[in-house]
Amino acid sequence: MSHDQRRILTGITTSGTPHLGNYVGAIRPAIAASRRADAESFYFLADYHALIKTGDPARVQQSTLEIAASWLACGLDPDTVHFYRQSDIPEIPELTWFLTCVTAKGLLNRAHAYKAAVDQNSAAGEDADAGITAGLYMYPVLMAADILIFNAHEVPVGRDQIQHIEMARDIGQRFNHLYGGDYFTLPEARIEENVATLPGTDGRKMSKSYDNTIPLWLPAKDLRKAILGIVTDSRAPGEAKDPDTSNIFAIYQAFANADETAAMRRAFADGIAWGEAKQALFERVDAELAPMRERYDALVAEPERIEKLLLDGARRVREIGSPLLRRLRDAVGIRPLDEIHGSVRGGASRDRVTSTGSALPQLKSYREADGKFYFKLEAADGALLLQSRAFAAPKDAGRLSAALVEAGDDATAIAALLSQCVPDAASVLPNEAIIAALARLKADKLAKKTQKN
Ligand code: TRP
Repeated sequence: MSHDQRRILTGITTSGTPHLGNYVGAIRPAIAASRRADAESFYFLADYHALIKTGDPARVQQSTLEIAASWLACGLDPDTVHFYRQSDIPEIPELTWFLTCVTAKGLLNRAHAYKAAVDQNSAAGEDADAGITAGLYMYPVLMAADILIFNAHEVPVGRDQIQHIEMARDIGQRFNHLYGGDYFTLPEARIEENVATLPGTDGRKMSKSYDNTIPLWLPAKDLRKAILGIVTDSRAPGEAKDPDTSNIFAIYQAFANADETAAMRRAFADGIAWGEAKQALFERVDAELAPMRERYDALVAEPERIEKLLLDGARRVREIGSPLLRRLRDAVGIRPLDEIHGSVRGGASRDRVTSTGSALPQLKSYREADGKFYFKLEAADGALLLQSRAFAAPKDAGRLSAALVEAGDDATAIAALLSQCVPDAASVLPNEAIIAALARLKADKLAKKTQKN
């Protein structure tokens, strides 16, 4: 995959059985989007998130299998998109902790789902946090880790998830700021505007919480029965019916093409009987689902195939996520004790030697007991060449030290930068030793870059 591709990422919580509303509102549009050539797509089974919603282990496992099989049966191609299970990526919980440590508790207090639970408790006269787990509270941080670990640009979600994406941005930005680097891409929510929200069997939005769903993979005769059970008004055969207030018509439209929809609209005006309209709806839905149902049934019959495919997907995405996590561990100070930390804070390199193996000058960033940030430049033999002033933000120290390396042997540029770096500009002129050390660091950086390419 090339660099200019947008990274699109979305997760599916594995706590339920896929229904027609999931298919029309999420699975079908996401699979169509996954075929975009200009995108690198990440689809994953959010089984850690499922633990927040259910304590039933059999249900978590069964739902994971059903959802994985559904996406594959509907045409997701694991050779062209990344398809994996959250719990197979140990970088995600580790990043969750790093993010937890920079996330303001007040931000999480404002999460809609948490606030709704608190409001419900208050209305019932209970303690505000009664029955609320820390898992529910931390939900947005885990979700931020899902997204940030792969530096996703876009996250296609429903409207109810917009706040979570905004929180992922906030949290990622805060980490970038505190540790002075561009570690994370800040993601954007993508809302599909022209995707139908399907009504359920009772006319309200099809949703597990209303218990009005039609499961996606019912055998044909049960699907027919479920469709015949959809609530309608009591207009008799021959009486004109209003398509725009009819659940039957709404579902039909989500499956039919423009001509079929227009024909059904006329049939409504002509007084089609409800039984007949329901039969036509069943036939139309079944025509789309039947070939996929066959694939679905074959897939769930061979869970070992899906297991292997998911592990394979995890292995591939971990190759993308683990280098970032290594940088993050270094950034926060989780480092091997026998490696001395040199070079610019936030830089990937902690190498003490050049690409050819000789000793290098060192540009070291650190934080003092006063809580402020500093850097210093040492010659290859350890002599102190330059000691910076204090910076309140690591980002500012990082920017200046990086700019110094970038300046290389340009004495004028170095002089200009030094005036921003030291307490008393006149006291440090860009002497030969400083210029030589910076030139050396720049040359080495370029050499390493060329080696990588
Ligand atoms: N919270 C999402 C939902 O309930 C599922 C999810 C978990 C997710 N992690 C994600 C979606 C990351 C997008 C990106 O729909």
